[in-house]
Amino acid sequence: MKVLAVLYNGFQAAKEEPRLLGTVENELGLRQYLESQGHEYIVTSSKDGPDSDFHKHIVNTDILITTPFHPGYLTRTLFNEAKHLKLCITAGVGSDHIDLNAAVEKQVQVIEVSGSNVVSVAEHVIMSILLLVRNFVPAHEMIERGDWQVSEIARNAFDLEGKVVGTIGAGRIGYRVLQRLVPFECKELLYYDYAPLSPEREKEVGARRIEDLKEFASKCDLITINAPLHEGTRHLINKDLLQHFKKGAWLVNTARGAICNAEDVAAAVKSGQLNGYAGDVWNVQPAPKDHPWRYMKNPLGGGNGMVPHYSGSTLDAQLRYARGTRAILENFLTGKAQEPGNIIVGLGKYETKAYGQR
Ligand code: NAI
Repeated sequence: MKVLAVLYNGFQAAKEEPRLLGTVENELGLRQYLESQGHEYIVTSSKDGPDSDFHKHIVNTDILITTPFHPGYLTRTLFNEAKHLKLCITAGVGSDHIDLNAAVEKQVQVIEVSGSNVVSVAEHVIMSILLLVRNFVPAHEMIERGDWQVSEIARNAFDLEGKVVGTIGAGRIGYRVLQRLVPFECKELLYYDYAPLSPEREKEVGARRIEDLKEFASKCDLITINAPLHEGTRHLINKDLLQHFKKGAWLVNTARGAICNAEDVAAAVKSGQLNGYAGDVWNVQPAPKDHPWRYMKNPLGGGNGMVPHYSGSTLDAQLRYARGTRAILENFLTGKAQEPGNIIVGLGKYETKAYGQR
């Protein structure tokens, strides 16, 4: 079999740190295993455009391994060319870079390492919430500049205690975020998800479901997005919905950049409708140098907590998703059943309910 992996370049860091498994240099630790079984293993970071390695190799690839951190977009057009393709593995969580409807039609399975980095992301969400609410980034920038003006920072710094916090999506990550928020004694924890939590799970975190998105938005001081990107969530956060947010609310998005309209969010931060926006996911990755999310600031010069896409790529997470990728490969190559929770698209049908109500 021909196995193609599209991973990001780790450069010097990956040579010095072998636990950076999700890089081109360290190849998810799979080369020896695959070659010892007689398979061909191609690893590349070149993913965009007709001359990329991805586009060239996909025509006779049997198994594709991609990662959301450096997404190789498997479009319907590429699916039409990928005549040998049987399996797409996502080394991580989130398979929106694969045209899932085309995968269903072409009978190509899409399997991800569910759960592999959900704690990593939930921790990042809590960090991002705190850095926005407490106005951390401009405070640190002030120190680096050599300045000291407490009032300039304190005028926009708050406590998380007593605030209303809501999550769009209360699945593996969203629920872990709610669990981690409990000790902060927020005024209320809310969630918006078409899949309700069981009464026991709601009670455990003291969360209440709101079924109308505008009503949900209008009640929250801070919203965190923890839903997959699909037809129902693309540009869910746009100019219209942002008008229903409380003035000066904070928004944290570690789910997928394209769930938000980038220009609308940047304008809302600039006007102060949003007091801040933080996250690690972008509508284009790598994000271009002039992307508005790199530079947007609220009227008081803060409110930007953006970082590159790494929240689910801690060294702990990389070990888990590298091991998980190997397990999926072994199952496939030896004809064993896959973990049901990992299957996004099975043979000819969606196996998860998380990618939209069908
Ligand atoms: P999950 O499948 O356990 O939970 C997703 C939840 O979102 C489900 O409860 C689902 O019903 C809900 N949902 C789907 N569509 C919705 C909609 N229109 N409105 C409200 N809720 C909706 O997935 P998990 O593990 O919690 O991951 C969520 C997403 O986080 C992934 O799909 C991925 O895009 C992103 N992610 C980001 C990472 C990073 O490094 N930044 C790493 C891992 C995941």
